[in-house]
Parts: sequence; structure tokens; C-alpha cells
Amino acid sequence: MSIRFERDGDGIVTLTIDLPGSANVMNADYRAAMAAAVTRLEAERESVTGVVITSGKKTFFAGADLTELVAVTDDNAGEFAAALAAVKDQFRRLERLGRPVVAALNGSALGGGFEIALACHRRICLDDDTIRLGLPEVTLGLLPGAGGVTRSVRLLGVQAALPLLTEGKRLRPAEALAVGWIHELAADRADLLAKARAWVLANPAVVQPWDVPGHRVADLRPLDPASYPLLAAAPAMLRKKTHGCYPAPEKILAAAVEGAMVDVDTALAVESRYLVELVTGQVAKNMITTFWFQRNALEAGGSRPAGVPRQAVARVGVLGAGMMGAGIGYAAATAGIEAVLKDVSAEAAEAGRAKVAALLDERVGAGRMSPERRAETLARVTATASDTELTGCDLIIEAVFEDRQLKNTVLAAAEAAARPDAVIASNTSTLPITGLAEAVPDPARFIGLHFFSPVHRMPLVEIIRGEKTSAETLARAFDFVRQIGKTPIVVNDSRGFYTSRTFGTYLTEGIALLAEGVHPALVENVARKAGMAVGPLAVCDEVTLTLAMRIRQQALADLAAQPGAAAAPEHPAYAVLDTMISEYGRTGKAAGAGFYDYPAGGRKRLWPGLVERWTTDDPGVSERDVRDRLLFIQAVETARIFGEGVLTSAADANLGSILGIGFAPWTGGTLQFINSCGVAAFVERADHLADTYGERFRPPALLRDMATRNQSF
Ligand code: NAI
Repeated sequence: MSIRFERDGDGIVTLTIDLPGSANVMNADYRAAMAAAVTRLEAERESVTGVVITSGKKTFFAGADLTELVAVTDDNAGEFAAALAAVKDQFRRLERLGRPVVAALNGSALGGGFEIALACHRRICLDDDTIRLGLPEVTLGLLPGAGGVTRSVRLLGVQAALPLLTEGKRLRPAEALAVGWIHELAADRADLLAKARAWVLANPAVVQPWDVPGHRVADLRPLDPASYPLLAAAPAMLRKKTHGCYPAPEKILAAAVEGAMVDVDTALAVESRYLVELVTGQVAKNMITTFWFQRNALEAGGSRPAGVPRQAVARVGVLGAGMMGAGIGYAAATAGIEAVLKDVSAEAAEAGRAKVAALLDERVGAGRMSPERRAETLARVTATASDTELTGCDLIIEAVFEDRQLKNTVLAAAEAAARPDAVIASNTSTLPITGLAEAVPDPARFIGLHFFSPVHRMPLVEIIRGEKTSAETLARAFDFVRQIGKTPIVVNDSRGFYTSRTFGTYLTEGIALLAEGVHPALVENVARKAGMAVGPLAVCDEVTLTLAMRIRQQALADLAAQPGAAAAPEHPAYAVLDTMISEYGRTGKAAGAGFYDYPAGGRKRLWPGLVERWTTDDPGVSERDVRDRLLFIQAVETARIFGEGVLTSAADANLGSILGIGFAPWTGGTLQFINSCGVAAFVERADHLADTYGERFRPPALLRDMATRNQSF
């Protein structure tokens, strides 16, 4: 049986959920088994003292069956709504059985799994810091529609429930206890079941608070004036975060507030209606596809060569203990790996180690690491100025200044000191890997490991396979990235790889709009409203205008060196960059002046000189065109990179764009964005943009072929 039904001598029934497959999910098996269990409980009610629900798996329950959810369309939404209603009806029958029902949470309970627990009268959880509890549906564009919104609001009040629901927080058991989502912690499995049984025996007559006549949601108790400001401000506050791109938080708010005003059964129906709207919409499909299916496939080894045995890295050498090097050292040390930080002098190396210490202190300060673990972690970091410490490293990552000559020298010296089978990597963000590999005698062991800044926060690493990189080297690099808990994407070597090249088009498109007379505030705001993490002008200030210019010059020089290559068309952005740098001396944030001013102690604001110099009254570019240009230019470039064989999977492209360069998550990534526009419609719109604004928008042959064949990524 998928749900074991066991009655003990005291009449306590333990329901152990143990569905076929590796995890318990809310699929047809679950619905049938739960229906049978509830029906039997009702039939045998007289001989039942109470119920304990637990799981036969390591996790309590994983949540909804996402394969089922992505398949819901307007055509079959009725079936989905009926299945949802059946699940909710089972919960209502359980909580109104007239017997105490306890959730004994022996592992993580997220989404639908936590909604089962919320339908129980009491929630007891193992006190284990690896367990996560919560309702993260919003991170996949959904809402907790199996009673999660309705019951959380009734348990905690609207004000306390909203951040948990709209941000999809996953809490440790102690945190869930502190917010009042669960009632009690247990030391181990025996203690968990003992506490559950004891509570059942001590509470024979129990009803949910919302089934007590006259129950009202605490902070809406008709209508507590204290809740007015929250209710009035909440939609605007949410919109500021979602920019209207994400329907889920807004629907969660609506379901919470509307539901709080009515009885529980009406509230549950309201919640279902909003979930059906989200499930049939495109944003949830994009987010589920990319953040669930593609991310899981990638992390399970999607782009890793099969057949190479896994091998953990025990000791990593990092050349250059600067911003990136220290970040890489921190990531390795926190994952239990010995890290050697090597720099030009002992002082410079120590400064890198001090950066690691500061990051660890932040974690201790936030209560996310014990002082003992901090000490152990820091003890794994060695600062040195000598190559001899690199002996014994399985992996060496170079992160010195972005200078080909310097990198060659440093790499050759490190290689000489390294183990003969060590993997040698470079964190270069622009230099082709195949060229750098010439610095070492065995290019098969050389690879690119492109981290993003700040390393401790950014979840992505772009792995770049040089022409001669071996499958074994790639597998070792992939395993290392997983070992430090990051998401690896794999690309073939080319200038700017995938992420920097695509990101470059976003920056230059923003600047081109400015050059055409569009107000800079409109460029920045429309970018944010489209869901981009940062506006293109602000980003350009971060990376520096000089770097943007230098990359361009290098690319032009390389192109000119190729025999017979046509001259590259000059991009309208470069005249602006040139003026900013040579005429105004404004090179970016580090210099205190770029597209923005950075007043000491104040907030950055757009430099008024931009408007004076470039903005015109009627530039003739609609807001829709501004938005489409910023998104389409990146999607077209990604398709081009895919067509060139630099990218080989849509998952790499989608996750790389969102996690690496802040492409709008609601789209599901650059290629999923093309899918959801419809490839043919995308080609048509891109052609229109190309006719109006320049050939850079012209879709590559690959997209045209796909449109003709009705294919998608
Ligand atoms: P950084 O200037 O903070 O650090 C460079 C470090 O290399 C300095 O500590 C310097 O003393 C050290 N160094 C110089 N010569 C050395 C030598 N001969 N031996 C050992 N160490 C030496 O630079 P950052 O930002 O950490 O960048 C390092 C590399 O990472 C560059 O290749 C850069 O393109 C790449 N990168 C940078 C990103 C960023 O956002 N800053 C993002 C991704 C890659």
C-alpha cells in the first residue's frame, strides 16, 4: 500500500505515506491512497483514538507533481480543478474527523507536503538543521493552493503569513517553530512518534481554530484598524518587487486577503480559483521548466561526460587572492575543501584570507554558522606567496589580473609545481581558453571555470571546454562545481563564452537607446519592469565603461587579424562610451562617476549630463520597443551562440542567463523566452526590430529553420 494504515492497542492509527518512487508527491497514486485511508478512518472512527501521519521516506513529502502541473492547459483545467478539490476535501474530512490528527514530520515538508501538515491539528518535527519546511510555490510561479494560503493566514494572521507565502521561504524546524507554523520539535524518530502519540492521548477532542464558530483571522478581526495600513500598502509594495511580471505574489495576496474575510470553505475555493489561473498561465510553465526540470537535469550531470568516475577535490590552489580568488577560496573551504590562496606576496595572500574570514564572520553574525565551524573552515585556508604549497592540489584555479601575458607566466609556474594529474583552470571572463591552454604542457588538463561576482552569492559557474580539454578534465571540473554547491553550465570555447557575450549585448543595447535620444531613466526603468535584475546603464557603471570599451577593441583587433574578415559594423553604443570616457572622464562606479553620480553617503542617481547631451523630445522609440529591444537582443544572441555550437543545451542557456546575468526569471531564460513567444512569432518580431533598429536583431538561420519546422528549444 502507498499509505500504510496501522492501528495500535490504544486505537492510534499511524498513516505512513510511502508512495512508489523516490519521493512522496501529490500525484494520482497519492490521491487514491489518501482517499482510501480517509474513508477507512471515517468508517472505523469508533475504534480510532487519533491519527499520526508520517512518511516512509527520508523526506516527509516533496510536494506537488510538477509533471502534472506543467501539462495543465485551458483545455484540461477542469480535470486539474477536480483533482485539487478532491485533495482539499480529504484534508477537510481529516481535520473534521472528530479525532486528533498529528503530523510527525520526519523530514522536509515543502509545498503540498507542508499543506498536509497544515491540515493536521498539530505539527511536530525532527530537530534537524537539514530539514526544510515551507511553501515555496511562488518560486515556481504558483501559489500554495491545497489550503496553504488559507490555513497559514488563519494560523499566523495575514501580516505574518504574507512574507512566508510571497517569498516562498524555506525554514529550518527551529525557525518554523518560532513563527508558529509548527508546534514542537523532537530529538529523533522514536521521540517524534512518542510525542505525537502522547499529544493524541492528551487531546481527545480537538477542532481546528477555523472550525470554531465565530472564528476570525486575528489581524482582520472586523476590521482591526491596525491592519488598514498593511492592506492599503501591500499591493503597491508587492508591485514594486514584481514589476507586474510575476502574477503569483499578487494572486497570493488576493487569496490571502479575500480568504481572510470569508469562512474557511469559501476561502479554500477562492484559493483554488487563483491557483488554476496561475497553473494555466505561461509564467508558471516557464519557471517550472527552467527552475525545476532543467535545473535538476543539469545538476544531476546533464552536460557532464558520462562514464568518467566521480572524484572529489580535496585540495584546491587559487592563484591570485583578489576579489574573485578570495571568493573561490571561501566557497571551497565552506564545502570542506582545503584551499591554498597564492598571491605575489605573503601580505597580499593574507589579505585574501582576511576576506574569507570576513565572509565567515558575516555568517556567524547572522546565526548561520557556529564559531567552531568558522574556525574549522578558516583553518582550511592557507595564504602563501610560494608555488610549493600548490603541491598536492587536485585542482588549480587561476584568478590573477585579466592580462594574457601575466596569466601565461603564472599558469606555467603553477603547472610546474602541481601534481601531474591536476586539473588547471582559469577564471578569465574574456580570454579564450584554447589560447590560454598553450601556457601549460598538457592542454587536455586545462579548462575555464568562470565564476561570477560576488562568488559567495552567485549560484552559477560557467565551465568552458577548450578545444583540447579532455572529457575527464571536464567531468572533474563539473564535479568540483557541484561539490561547492553551485550550478554548472558547460559551453564550448569562444570569445566572451556564453554569458559575457550575451550580457554585452544588453549593456550596449541600453547605451544605444540612450544614443538614440531615449531618456536614460526610461531605459533603466523599462529594463527593471521587464524583469532584468539591474538596468543596463547601472550595470555598465559596475563593470566599468573602460572594460566595456576594452573588450570591444580586443574583439575588433582579433577580427581584423583574421584574413578576409569583413569589417564589423560599428555599434551605436561605442560613440557614447568613447564620449563618456574621453570627453567627460566618467568611467563608472569605482571612479565615483559614470552613467550615474555616486554622492558620498547618498543614493546613486542618473547623471543629468546624459539628458543634456543625448535625450531628444521625440526619439520615436515606443516603450514596448525599448522593452523588446532589451530582451530580444539577448535572446537573439543566445540563439546565435546556440547555432554556433558554443551552447549545446537549452538548460545551460536558460539557467546561465538567469543565474549568471540576471535575465528576467519570469521568462524561464533566454531560449525559453523564445519558446514562450512562439518561435515563428519571435522571428517575425525580431525581423521587425532588425528592419527598424539594425541588423543586430536579425534572427539567425537556426531560428528560421525551427520556425519553419514548428520546433522549439
Ligand atoms: P583582483 O584585482 O581583485 O585580484 C587579482 C589578484 O591577483 C590580486 O590580488 C593580485 O595581487 C593577484 N596577482 C597579480 N599577479 C599575480 C601573480 N603573479 N601571482 C599571484 N597573484 C597575482 O581581480 P578580480 O576581480 O578578482 O579578477 C581576477 C580574474 O577573475 C580576472 O581574470 C577577471 O577577469 C576574472 N573575473 C572577474 C570577475 C569580476 O566580476 N571581477 C568576474 C569573473 C571573472
